[in-house]
Amino acid sequence: MNEESDRKVVRGLKDVAAAETRISFVDPKGYLYYLGYNIDDLVGRVTYTEVAYLLIHKRLPNQQELDEFCTDLISEMKLPNAMVKCIWDTPGHVHPMDVLRTEVSRLGEYDIEYKDLSEAANMRRATRLIAQVPTIVATLHRSRMGQPVPAPRKDFGFAENFLYMFEGYPPKEDEADVLHRLLILHADHGFNASTFAARVTASTNADMYSAATSAIGTLRGPLHGGASEKVMEMLNDIGLEKYVDEYIQGLLDEKMKIMGFGHRVYMAEDPRTKHLRGIVENLCHQKRTLDLYNKCIKIEEIVHQRKNIYPNLDFYAAVAMDALGVPKEFFTPFFTSSRIAGWVAHTIEQYEDAVLLRPSSKYVGEFGRTFVPIEER
Ligand code: COA
Repeated sequence: MNEESDRKVVRGLKDVAAAETRISFVDPKGYLYYLGYNIDDLVGRVTYTEVAYLLIHKRLPNQQELDEFCTDLISEMKLPNAMVKCIWDTPGHVHPMDVLRTEVSRLGEYDIEYKDLSEAANMRRATRLIAQVPTIVATLHRSRMGQPVPAPRKDFGFAENFLYMFEGYPPKEDEADVLHRLLILHADHGFNASTFAARVTASTNADMYSAATSAIGTLRGPLHGGASEKVMEMLNDIGLEKYVDEYIQGLLDEKMKIMGFGHRVYMAEDPRTKHLRGIVENLCHQKRTLDLYNKCIKIEEIVHQRKNIYPNLDFYAAVAMDALGVPKEFFTPFFTSSRIAGWVAHTIEQYEDAVLLRPSSKYVGEFGRTFVPIEER
């Protein structure tokens, strides 16, 4: 018998604290804090750029620092021409998250200071990643429409530039406001699966691009960031509002998961939901958004009544992104464009912690099997 076979398995690592962090706190009672600030005090009062600064510098910027950070981000948004070509050359059937995963990895090839792993170089790298992930997403979206990406404008903020480059026209004030709220709400969330993946990679002293690539691959799954796309597929599949009850009850009867519901940590409603529901309510002057919203409210009631669980981030975020004109296959890339700030902040924190993240396992396989040479098998 081996020592590992006596170990107790914590299935899904539920409630296991894998490291200390100062970046964000997911309070099961239904609160979320970024560096000690309740997100309720940030949403609608700060820009996404301030939150990105907060995550990597661990404090809010003053006006001058914010202006400089915004200038740095905008000047870093441009991608190497060879990368733009690669993005244009991707086959149209490939999911945008697959392209994003590859292209973020490729960014590492263009890092001219790749040998410099100092704190200062990592901070520059973090800024570049926060700037360039949205550009990859915008470039892919525009390329699929056969359109080039407009160059970022110095008179727009960073988030406004993202939407401008994605859509190809300057965002209206209310669209920019929605975008800031969305990006802030997606920016970080404790030791979620993708952040943990980034930290595991960083814990081997691998570079930041490798950590971000691991995280993207992890975010893509429908139990994590891929859920928002599934939410929209479900809402489309339901059809008219009058079919909601039958559809959802049917899924629950079959013990199926309702996408955009449930959470590993929150015992109460996800604190981001009220903000996202509010964003969607404000966009209900659009007929499509109103129809989707009405379906969502009904689904919420049914799922809560039957399973006593609440919507998570991805439920109303799907409708909010749809209202902004984002196609559903770009929902998770949009999520990534914000969460990259959390990932790089956690990667830096993991480098500071300087410990290899390597759990054990409980071996439940066989021992003492008799070896049989291949010619006798
Ligand atoms: N729909 C229906 N029931 C759900 C559910 C959902 N979305 N999420 C959880 N439940 C139920 C489970 O069936 C289980 O019920 P039971 O005890 O009667 O068997 C219970 O709630 C616990 O669920 P479990 O899957 O064990 O929780 P978890 O902590 O392992 O999973 C999620 C958390 C997020 C993976 C899970 O809620 C889920 O799959 N949600 C849908 C995907 C999603 O929206 N992901 C985005 C997360 S932010």
